[in-house]
Amino acid sequence: MKVLVVGGGGREHALCWKISQSPRVSKIYCAPGNAGLSGVAECVGIESSDIDGLVTFAYSRGIDLTVVGPEDPLARGLVDALEAHGLRVFGPRAGAAAIEGSKVFSKDIMAKYGIPTARYRAFEDPREAGEYIRVLSSPCVVKADGLAAGKGVIVAGTTEEALEAIRQIMGDRAFGSAGDRVVVEELLTGEEVSILAFTDGITVVPMMPAQDHKQVYDGDRGPNTGGMGAYAPAPVCTRELYNYALEKILRPTVAALASEGRPYSGVLYAGLMVTAEGPKVLEYNARFGDPEAQPVLMMLKTDLVDIMDAVIDRRLSNINIEWEEGASVCVVMASGGYPGPYARGLEITGLDRVPEGVTVFHAGTAQRDGKIVTDGGRVLGVTARGDDIPSAIRLAYRGVEAISFEGAHCRRDIGRKAVAHNP
Ligand code: AMP
Ligand code: GLY
Repeated sequence: MKVLVVGGGGREHALCWKISQSPRVSKIYCAPGNAGLSGVAECVGIESSDIDGLVTFAYSRGIDLTVVGPEDPLARGLVDALEAHGLRVFGPRAGAAAIEGSKVFSKDIMAKYGIPTARYRAFEDPREAGEYIRVLSSPCVVKADGLAAGKGVIVAGTTEEALEAIRQIMGDRAFGSAGDRVVVEELLTGEEVSILAFTDGITVVPMMPAQDHKQVYDGDRGPNTGGMGAYAPAPVCTRELYNYALEKILRPTVAALASEGRPYSGVLYAGLMVTAEGPKVLEYNARFGDPEAQPVLMMLKTDLVDIMDAVIDRRLSNINIEWEEGASVCVVMASGGYPGPYARGLEITGLDRVPEGVTVFHAGTAQRDGKIVTDGGRVLGVTARGDDIPSAIRLAYRGVEAISFEGAHCRRDIGRKAVAHNP
């Protein structure tokens, strides 16, 4: 069968890598893809936001399965458009993807259906938001309602920072119409965990729990990024927490969306904070996380295409999803300056010198004059599997040591929290 993967980051490279292992697949296209895909997938010069272009391509090439990586095309209705042409696609329709695309919608669903999350209020008027923040007079989190490429969440330590966030989002319109509304919510403290699940709208099967590293610097300091590394399994997710997340969060969310007339299908990602009062939802994503997809897919034993088919045909309960033993760690190598401005076009060397057992998923790379060059903030996801977290960490960092480009930086403490749980 012929598969089209939409997107061009580390997540999509990992998806292509995993899908290519399916004996059922004869050809993979990736739109737009990146420089790491040669040998796995053919890159197609269509942006992931170009809904008409993607539908025309999938239809004219007789694509048997389209897999949507990023949130933007989901929110723009790519799944709906492909289905309208009778094409098979893995991912939620726009109405269901609103669980990620609108923070106000997602918080309202959680409130209505009793799903544990931070206390919040939503605002359309910046003055009212400001008044609320002054009354709160405690640290809080300000979130632009719509999609903002992971930058629309401001964790404000002081009232002044929160008011500044309102000014930027609603006054300066830093995220455009994504900031027409904001959510102001209680600041939660604890350890974060990412629980991704496959669901066909009826059955919910969580994947191996993972942990992201959002902040740019070691020790979770500095500004938030798209994610500087991830590992799986995450020991913070005990059996008890896993069961709680399934029973009290994931299943109720899928059921809630069905009752709202927005049946959900695809990957539902719950970002949780494990607080002293128990786990609470920070946010939902309507897709695989990036970088979480890289270690999680490396641990997946079952044929991903079989799982995706079962999701599309609403027979997920019939399939047995198996995971590898051990653990996987992904260390992101980023461009100098990221998450701020950075240069592009810098040559990357050493990709052919990584040790055996390391897979380098490309994120922001391009090919120029036969060379692989940087072409984004997060450049590579250096990913390794080991018998346990410490051995996967060692192997991943040996991979990092082999690779260089000017200004490259990465966190040195990916996975350290897991080691702290199991010293
Ligand atoms: P994003 O994944 O880009 O939407 O960013 C969300 C991140 O912001 C989470 O992973 C947390 O690190 C942080 N965050 C969001 N909501 C809260 C909250 N209520 N309390 C503390 N941190 C939060
Ligand atoms: N790594 C977090 C995300 O994909 O949103």
